[in-house]
Amino acid sequence: MPLLWVLRDRLKLTGTKFGCGKGLCGACTVHLEGQAVRACLIPAVAANGRHVTTIEGL
Ligand code: FES
Repeated sequence: MPLLWVLRDRLKLTGTKFGCGKGLCGACTVHLEGQAVRACLIPAVAANGRHVTTIEGL
């Protein structure tokens, strides 16, 4: 499952948006260990144990 859907559906952090689903638009951008990443492309397991900052955290 992509990180985007864990954030939105499981954690109810809906500030992170779904746009293209292909890594093109940036609507799903979050910071993973301080680096901007597209949450629609990152498997949720890749964020396990790592620091994720969403728009809610800014
Ligand atoms: S939804 Fe467009 S880059 Fe992720």
